[in-house]
Amino acid sequence: MNRKLRVGVVFGGRSGEHEVSLVSATSVMTELDRSRYDVVPIGIAPDGRWISSAQALRLLKEKTSLESEPERFLAPEPNRQALVTAYQGEEASLPIDVVIPLVHGTYGEDGTLQGLLELANLPYVGAGVLGSALGMDKIAQKQVLTDAGLPVVRYFAFSALDVRQNPRRLISLAEKRFSYPLFVKPANTGSSVGISKAHNRQELLAALTLAMEYDRRLLVEQAVRGAREIECSVLGNDDPIASVPGEIVPSNEFYDYEAKYVDGKSRAVVPARLSRALSGKIRKMAVAAFKAIDCAGMSRVDFLIAGKTGRIYINELNTIPGFTSISMYPKLWEASGVSFRELLDRLIALALERHREKNSLRRTYTPARDWYR
Ligand SMILES: Nc1ncnc2c1ncn2[C@@H]1O[C@H](COP(=O)(O)OP(=O)(O)O)[C@@H](O)[C@H]1O
Ligand SMILES: [Mg+2]
Repeated sequence: MNRKLRVGVVFGGRSGEHEVSLVSATSVMTELDRSRYDVVPIGIAPDGRWISSAQALRLLKEKTSLESEPERFLAPEPNRQALVTAYQGEEASLPIDVVIPLVHGTYGEDGTLQGLLELANLPYVGAGVLGSALGMDKIAQKQVLTDAGLPVVRYFAFSALDVRQNPRRLISLAEKRFSYPLFVKPANTGSSVGISKAHNRQELLAALTLAMEYDRRLLVEQAVRGAREIECSVLGNDDPIASVPGEIVPSNEFYDYEAKYVDGKSRAVVPARLSRALSGKIRKMAVAAFKAIDCAGMSRVDFLIAGKTGRIYINELNTIPGFTSISMYPKLWEASGVSFRELLDRLIALALERHREKNSLRRTYTPARDWYR
């Protein structure tokens, strides 16, 4: 008899979005069809320690001491394809068939975890190393999107060193190019962590100081006035499809961390109230963006539509979007006729497909003679 597919769900992690990830994992583990899958919870503590047990989620949520938990890891060599447990000098492996990485942000969504999964030769849901890295880095992402002819907000990129060496020059550059309000962002965070909207010079300086705590790569963007925030979910590998778009109506002046998760007052309008033509355009652009940054499996593509002019900008892509039952990514699929459970089935199938494809590629070359001896 075929055994069930063993699915490792990885959550937590070393990022500002640790808690968000725990909530995503709770929904996903509840929804995974137990008649098809054996679920292996794999938690990563804020200090990077891996744990795995039925209680892993609870332990991380309650910030319980993990001292008595056995150490777990994935071996970065391709023949084991297993979660390894090291305990009191003994080692045991649990074979894993596919991984769902639900770690948002650094060391999860940025290509690093994906690199480990590649080395471990494990199929996994979502973008590979390149797509993940491009999905994470707001500067590189905008460069690639621009190169693909997709519209992004006017911005300029610089380093924390540039600010430290000559803050005045940077501020005058920002003021020359843009008009307040501006957004200041670390290139590599998510959930609005480290992001501020600056309405004047004093706020710009404070915003730079905050952003520099999170990254050495930084950017300043022109704020889109009266922006509508539209999001679109994309699903697939080489020939992806887009969901109906949805709209976020943030409870704060912008969609910051509090408005996203804490105050519970932001509204989602699904589907977004858009003309058929505009909705079609957004969906097309979402698929184009997904392809441009080489995503796989899933991505949520976020847009800003300018209040007065109606101009459309791609704000960003998220390769591991929020995955709670009320998160936009699954909600938009639900509204497009794909239930949460079916969505997970499809993502797992896409992960297996991508892995098979990759393993069927030639990786070796046999030279005509052993010239290197
Ligand atoms: N250029 C901009 N114009 C208007 N609002 C913006 C702009 N950039 C960001 N925002 C607001 O800030 C929020 C967070 O910015 P975003 O770039 O999406 O970062 P994150 O990756 O943390 O979600 C957006 O959802 C939006 O509300
Ligand atoms: Mg965002």
